[in-house]
Amino acid sequence: MNQLRVGMIGYKFMGKAHSNAYRSLPMFFPNALKPEMKAICGRNASAVQEAADQLGWNESITDWRELIQREDIDLIDINAPSDAHKEIAIAAAKAGKHIFCEKPLALTLADAREMLQAAEDAGVRHMVGFNYRFSPAVRLAKKLVDSGRLGQIYHFRAWFLQDWIMDPQFPLVWRLQKEVAGSGSHGDLGAHLIDLAHYLVGDMQEVIGMSETFIKERPIASEMTGLSAKGSGDGPKGKVTVDDATLFLTRFENGALGSFEATRFAAGHRSTNAFEINGSLGSVKFDFERMNELEVYFTSDEEDVQGFRRVLATDPVHDYMEAWWPPGHTIGFEHTFIHEVLELSQAIAEGRQPVPSFEDGVKCQAVLEAVDKSIEERRWVSLSEM
Ligand SMILES: NC(=O)c1ccc[n+]([C@@H]2O[C@H](COP(=O)([O-])OP(=O)(O)OC[C@H]3O[C@@H](n4cnc5c(N)ncnc54)[C@H](O)[C@@H]3O)[C@@H](O)[C@H]2O)c1
Repeated sequence: MNQLRVGMIGYKFMGKAHSNAYRSLPMFFPNALKPEMKAICGRNASAVQEAADQLGWNESITDWRELIQREDIDLIDINAPSDAHKEIAIAAAKAGKHIFCEKPLALTLADAREMLQAAEDAGVRHMVGFNYRFSPAVRLAKKLVDSGRLGQIYHFRAWFLQDWIMDPQFPLVWRLQKEVAGSGSHGDLGAHLIDLAHYLVGDMQEVIGMSETFIKERPIASEMTGLSAKGSGDGPKGKVTVDDATLFLTRFENGALGSFEATRFAAGHRSTNAFEINGSLGSVKFDFERMNELEVYFTSDEEDVQGFRRVLATDPVHDYMEAWWPPGHTIGFEHTFIHEVLELSQAIAEGRQPVPSFEDGVKCQAVLEAVDKSIEERRWVSLSEM
């Protein structure tokens, strides 16, 4: 097998990011299993054909069940909103297909566990789309933590701040409806931070959170895609059923303390996704708006030059960078997906589970739900309760 035959469902924001990853992979990582962009699936025949032409897919179809049953497809890639993930993933597993599913894995922890079980029972490979793990600067942070160069980890502090729905007239898109999205900023933005925390620091022991929905009703959307939408302020309104902002604290199993803030109401922050880690021997700071950089501080530096240094993670010594441009030539958001698809294709070729897998998706979902429970019951919730 030297090709990976892909069928993809959903073709807007993430669909485009994944399509670009499949197209770019062979050019920069020629030894990886080559994705063959077989078919793309959407509900509107003419719109999905247009997307197939634009994004480079061989054909378009309108029935995902038909796509899943096709003999000439190895991998099903799910880029639909979260309410569609479970049914498609379980059907794909039963049909013996590998699965790549966007985050958050499911609407609930129970659903996420069912998806993991189905994939394990079927013996297929499964991956969840936590793409920020694949930034070279984040990999450098991971290397510094794992090698002990930051010493004992005391703090993980993370924030994901956006402002795209601050206008009360911004329409009621699917991301603001619990039955479609599962939750708001918590499952959309917070999920990425939780995964980074798991990746960089480890498992969590207990959590306590708070959340708020600042704008409780919005005009019904007439058109929507990704983070944009149309709707009229004069038209009918519907109820917002998810959080606009969620904050929580955690104690990690290794004794570190964590704090998390996810909000869509941070004026001026288009998409600030950042974290700091403080250890006994030093600290790191990462901000996705400057994703090629990691700020690093070591307590062992001579006293008169102590301070954060800015490391540009673009040298061949940094993960993935050998395949890209000469040192100092930066990469962007889309590259995280190319690296993600690289891991997926390598794992399938090597007959191992890709990382992050549905197991990581379940772990993230457990934290999301534990935080919700803590908010509802106004108390610390242990992850062992979940
Ligand atoms: N990893 C990331 O950084 C990241 C970023 C954004 C979104 N996401 C996740 O990706 C998924 C999709 O989000 P998006 O921003 O691409 O959404 P989007 O609104 O831009 O696109 C959704 C696509 O799914 C299709 N779709 C909707 N309902 C469907 C259904 N029932 N069956 C089949 N297709 C359906 C739509 O037609 C559209 O093509 C969500 O789970 C979201 O949380 C991840």
